[in-house]
Amino acid sequence: MQSIILAHEVDFAGWREAARRLALDGVPPEQAHFSVGEPDDLFAQGESEPAALQAGGSFSVSRALIELAQTVIQAREPERFDLLYGLVWRAHRGERRITELVTDPGVQRAIRLAQSVRRDTHKMRAFLRFREVCEEDGTRYVAWFEPDHYIVEANADFFVRRFATMVFSILTPYRSVHWTGAELRFAPGADPAQVPDDDALERYWRAYFAAIFNPARLKISAMTSEMPKKYWRNLPEAAAIPELIRTAASRTETMLETKPMPPDDQTPPRRRVAAPKPVADPIQPGSLAALAEAAAGCRRCALWEPATQVVFGEGPEHARMMMVGEQPGDQEDLAGRPFVGPAGQLLDRAIVEAGIDRREVYVTNAVKHFKFEPRGKRRIHAKPDLTEIAACSGWLVEERRAVRPALLVMLGATAARAVLGRTVTISRERSRPMALPDQFGSNAQGLVTVHPSYLLRLPDEDAKRREYAAFVADLKQARALLEDAVPA
Ligand code: URA
Repeated sequence: MQSIILAHEVDFAGWREAARRLALDGVPPEQAHFSVGEPDDLFAQGESEPAALQAGGSFSVSRALIELAQTVIQAREPERFDLLYGLVWRAHRGERRITELVTDPGVQRAIRLAQSVRRDTHKMRAFLRFREVCEEDGTRYVAWFEPDHYIVEANADFFVRRFATMVFSILTPYRSVHWTGAELRFAPGADPAQVPDDDALERYWRAYFAAIFNPARLKISAMTSEMPKKYWRNLPEAAAIPELIRTAASRTETMLETKPMPPDDQTPPRRRVAAPKPVADPIQPGSLAALAEAAAGCRRCALWEPATQVVFGEGPEHARMMMVGEQPGDQEDLAGRPFVGPAGQLLDRAIVEAGIDRREVYVTNAVKHFKFEPRGKRRIHAKPDLTEIAACSGWLVEERRAVRPALLVMLGATAARAVLGRTVTISRERSRPMALPDQFGSNAQGLVTVHPSYLLRLPDEDAKRREYAAFVADLKQARALLEDAVPA
């Protein structure tokens, strides 16, 4: 039996290297066992990897499997490393598309763990509340959270992006994270007593919550399923809930009984002054990293507010091909990365079949925040309108300036509208290479095709097969166009 000791609970690099070495050495899953070393070692040793994990040889598994593993590794399940190694072993032995075997017990188990991690991530992002603490050298915001899984490390960047200008600490039972405004540090878990229990911020939250609480629309079951009671004690506004529930019925009656005041009794209506239109600062050109950072605070339209985070484009700084989609979906919004959900998986498959390497493509969206309608627990995709596409267009322009791709592939009508600035009928204009206006001294070409989610929505299998083949043919054409284009 080979025993592998990982440096910490989310030591993905250590696990990946060990899994690679074991698979190359032909060690079957039943002869390998992963566990995690003493937590103290982590902070004593820094991030160094165990020496035994050096391996040579060639080895690759699908991107989908790597992404699944990155999520599953955060699950509070001691067997997860072994489970994942089992999948890697099978992928290495020829089951290349193992993540698509959704009825396979091992794959199913991994998918369930990944879903649970994603739910926990969503709760952390939605229910974490900071309290203000005055320190000698300024104010620190401190939050206590009890995640179900080991999700703190993977989410630290999200909070840094969202609260970049605050000095904050997030304390959890297994790990703490401290942001100084410039540097991120991880430390061992903490005690909830380290979090102050009342302050101005808390009072503000309570007042805010009480003000938005409409007693006539009280749905206790919906409230407790969306915001499970477990999280209430860390939410300042939750202290107001029992009292608000208790008085809801009488407050509703009062609301119904209160007759509208006759016009004479009313205080004169205030003269409405048109609110000045917010003037958005022009977006400064910059590197992709600088643009992504600036976009994290984008308020150019209202979509930022209900969304979890901005989903900026990703890919090489000087990719020759750029693919533009519509907007992030539910999964992209939670992951903070474009095209990782069902449409993204379909796109990945088609990209591979077309002989393109996604790692060489810059992938982005016309609109960078998820637009949705809440329906029960679900968030249903809503199409961005013209003002939202226009508000976001500056980011796409700057992405194009930074990357200067030789070819832009527009996936669907919203992407085509954002790039071409006009309404495009996909059936008329798809598959026809076009010269794009020379914006940045580069002669980029454009190619319009369908959006992968269109393929997912097709009702019958024949149409699905036919349309998928046409989509792959478009991507093959994109590849050929690039091969013919003169490198910049
Ligand atoms: N659809 C898109 O257009 N973009 C994504 O990132 C995901 C789904």
